[in-house]
Amino acid sequence: MFKYVVLSLSFCFFACATQTTGTAQKFKTAEEYSKAKEFKPGKLVIVQGPTSDHETNINVLAPRLKNYIYIVVTPDGKELAVEKYETIQPEILLWKIDKLNIKNLEPNKDYTLKVVDEFRSSKTTVDTRTFRALDVKGYKARFAYASCMADDYRFTEVIDPMWDRMKSLNPDFIILNGDVVYVDSFEFVERKKATELDIWQRFIDSFNRLPMYKWTTLKPVFATWDDHDFGTNDGARDFPSKQAARKIFLGFFGGKNIPGVYQLENESVYFSLNAFHQRMLFLDDRYFRQPNKEQKEAEKFAHWGEKQHNWIMNTLNADGTPAWLFNGNQFFSGVDLSYKESIQSNNPAHFQKILEDLKSVKAPVVMASGDIHFSEVMRIPTDKLGYETYELTSSSMHSYTGSGWDNPLRVPGAFSKEFNFMLINSTSKDGGLEIDVESWGLADKPYFKNNFRVRK
Ligand SMILES: [Fe+2]
Repeated sequence: MFKYVVLSLSFCFFACATQTTGTAQKFKTAEEYSKAKEFKPGKLVIVQGPTSDHETNINVLAPRLKNYIYIVVTPDGKELAVEKYETIQPEILLWKIDKLNIKNLEPNKDYTLKVVDEFRSSKTTVDTRTFRALDVKGYKARFAYASCMADDYRFTEVIDPMWDRMKSLNPDFIILNGDVVYVDSFEFVERKKATELDIWQRFIDSFNRLPMYKWTTLKPVFATWDDHDFGTNDGARDFPSKQAARKIFLGFFGGKNIPGVYQLENESVYFSLNAFHQRMLFLDDRYFRQPNKEQKEAEKFAHWGEKQHNWIMNTLNADGTPAWLFNGNQFFSGVDLSYKESIQSNNPAHFQKILEDLKSVKAPVVMASGDIHFSEVMRIPTDKLGYETYELTSSSMHSYTGSGWDNPLRVPGAFSKEFNFMLINSTSKDGGLEIDVESWGLADKPYFKNNFRVRK
């Protein structure tokens, strides 16, 4: 007992008397931390998902025993209604996803989201973020475009500066086009064997490591998957955990449909975004895919399945609004290499059908892909679709990279094998698109810049 008293007294002496270290850095006392009612942003994983000019969806990864209170405040201090329309709470997890929908927003205003923990009749703000709506009625989309983000220890020094670069360029929104989590990295989960728990755990670990999900200023994210976030390398329709993977992926990135702007088709993860006088179709290259290996016949709809294929073409034929097609794998192979996937190489019969159908729809299209761990721009000559267009491939944010390969379709100079993402300005004009693209990474200037126009 005596000893305890002495220790208590000496603790009080240092804690109460000292508020600075030798380098004069201020810190709170332990008692102040214990009694604090507000903490620095970034405790939780928070994703701002599908968003329009008046509505947004926000998904919060919360501890399963907490019933957090969510408060949204306008710039002039008024509270907006927050609808918690769903909680995804698997029994096997210590976490749950609270799915929030907020309406009555206006573009170009900063809103605040507060996450409040009420515990034993005391309230603590455990996380605070700001967010905006998107000016989807305009003509210009300014977004960061990225794929392939490994949380492997090898990239420890790279991950933070890469996301700092993206944050400093301040895009209006972010498009993630696959391999946003490496479920079957060689550290934890064997290929083709991922269970639902494996997928949850890899998503949660990876999202806790990637800075974007902790940013004080949220950015709307629109995402589709490729093989590694689907759950297995070169995955296809025969992957046993594909329904669990879909639930988890949409849990983090999905939201309520926003009429006229965001529409999930409820088949797998594919959806459309109708914004900036453009359409963006986010495609699913895994859920319905014919497995690459041991193909006895090249199926006519091998890459997307017939229903998704018809949805794409019907959407593009509804009117002439110019469109982007985002697909994890490359559309055009450029060169045929046994270890690299593309629609052209893996699904040649479907590839021919896609070209034929794209020729006849009303809308001009630009293609965008990821996956290959370098970035490039391909010019697609007029004989393919009846007009000149382009395919942009953005990869990797931080993942394993080799030396790449030559590609006869590549626009000279439009290539980078450094860690990078694209910053894209896409303007809808005269029935077509004017596109500026820059490849950004650790360097303080772009690795390449390119601009082009697509018109039917
Ligand atoms: Fe990748």
